[in-house]
Amino acid sequence: MESVQAIKQRFGIIGNTPSLNRAIEKAIQVAPTDISVLVTGESGVGKESIPKIIHQLSHRKHNKYIAVNCGAIPEGTIDSELFYHEKGAFTGATQTRSGYFEVADGGTIFLDEVGELPLTTQVRLLRVLENGEFIKVGSSKVQKTDVRIVAATNVNMFEAIEKEKFREDLYYRLSTVDIHLPPLRERQDDIHLLFRKFASDFALKYKMPTVKLTDNAIQVLLKHRWSGNIRQLRNIAEQVSVLEQNRIISADTLRGYLPKSGTNLPAVIKTSKSESDFSSEREILYKVLFDMKSDLNDLKKLTMELMKSGNVKDVEKDHENLIQKIYGDNEEEETDFEETQENTEVLSIPEHSSKHDDVINIQDKYHFAEEIEEEETLSLHDKELELIKKSLERHSGKRKLAAAELGISERTLYRKIKQYNL
Ligand SMILES: Nc1ncnc2c1ncn2[C@@H]1O[C@H](COP(=O)(O)OP(=O)(O)OP(=O)(O)O)[C@@H](O)[C@H]1O
Ligand SMILES: [Mg+2]
Repeated sequence: MESVQAIKQRFGIIGNTPSLNRAIEKAIQVAPTDISVLVTGESGVGKESIPKIIHQLSHRKHNKYIAVNCGAIPEGTIDSELFYHEKGAFTGATQTRSGYFEVADGGTIFLDEVGELPLTTQVRLLRVLENGEFIKVGSSKVQKTDVRIVAATNVNMFEAIEKEKFREDLYYRLSTVDIHLPPLRERQDDIHLLFRKFASDFALKYKMPTVKLTDNAIQVLLKHRWSGNIRQLRNIAEQVSVLEQNRIISADTLRGYLPKSGTNLPAVIKTSKSESDFSSEREILYKVLFDMKSDLNDLKKLTMELMKSGNVKDVEKDHENLIQKIYGDNEEEETDFEETQENTEVLSIPEHSSKHDDVINIQDKYHFAEEIEEEETLSLHDKELELIKKSLERHSGKRKLAAAELGISERTLYRKIKQYNL
């Protein structure tokens, strides 16, 4: 069996996100069988390579592979395209009155945008899937065909079923195996990789030096929502490659190419329908309050250490994690892409001198504050714990979604899960 890496190379698939690798692995595993496969995922995620992989790795590879875009064929003609057509309409159509299902006998048909199939065609398709039989349009003769079906959709099939636009029995028949391709925004490690690949392809194509992103531009790229996924990323890489004179692309320049509404942050906070807006607002406020309090305590601790030690370098060294926590996360969770410099500065705490009296004074205040805060902090901890639990439940344990809902980074959520032993 060919490895996932080899398949990616063969089919020009870039990326290494585990969910992408899993999808390809599933395609490799299911290929030698005749099982129907439904490929799901947003527009532009790369669904079209999955049926190709399946066909090429199957015993059908020497027979026809036909890709049909169900959304592009007018409703009145799709039945006859699939089950009947005139001679010579495409290579291999040597007989009159044969449709794709006849021509692809022994091969694979890829039904793209299958959610768009009219109901009458769905009935015919169900019959093919159930017993390999179909009846030509305008005929009463039953014919047999041996076709493997791979379908794809970027719409929510359950919604289509609910609205009676798609037959439930057909859906279950088609999706014996479901291969889901993740949206680009959930493939953080692949975004810059894909951009670099496209930038280098376009540099070759247009015979220009390859464009390169600054560190802050990379951050903009990573935080964008990419609702058009890889197709959109490719288009932007092409536009930037062709139009920019300066081959070093700053965050501002890149932003100029991105649609305004497409940022991944701030997260859209969606609660279940049963919860009122008020409760979600309260949750956000709790979170903000909690974060502020936690930062304040960390800062107080750091200030005390600085005053006690008097040596900035030692404190920086001993409290590297704390400094990273206070300042590092703020950078990461920046909800706006406002930036002042192109390169991130290394954090440094200014030297200072302090009188002994001041130290005692502040230290006392700090202790006093600690006492009265303890109770509040406890209840805030409970609140936060509750919020995290609820959000994880709502998203069936999916941290990425929960983090987005809570408006924190996945790393912060992970830290809190560990902290609370969740
Ligand atoms: N992992 C990848 N590596 C390189 N290029 C990719 C990758 N995934 C997708 N692409 C490219 O992105 C573009 C969109 O992919 P594709 O046409 O397969 O999307 P799709 O999921 O079928 O979208 P739609 O639902 O809109 O039809 C294509 O040009 C494809 O070559
Ligand atoms: Mg497609």
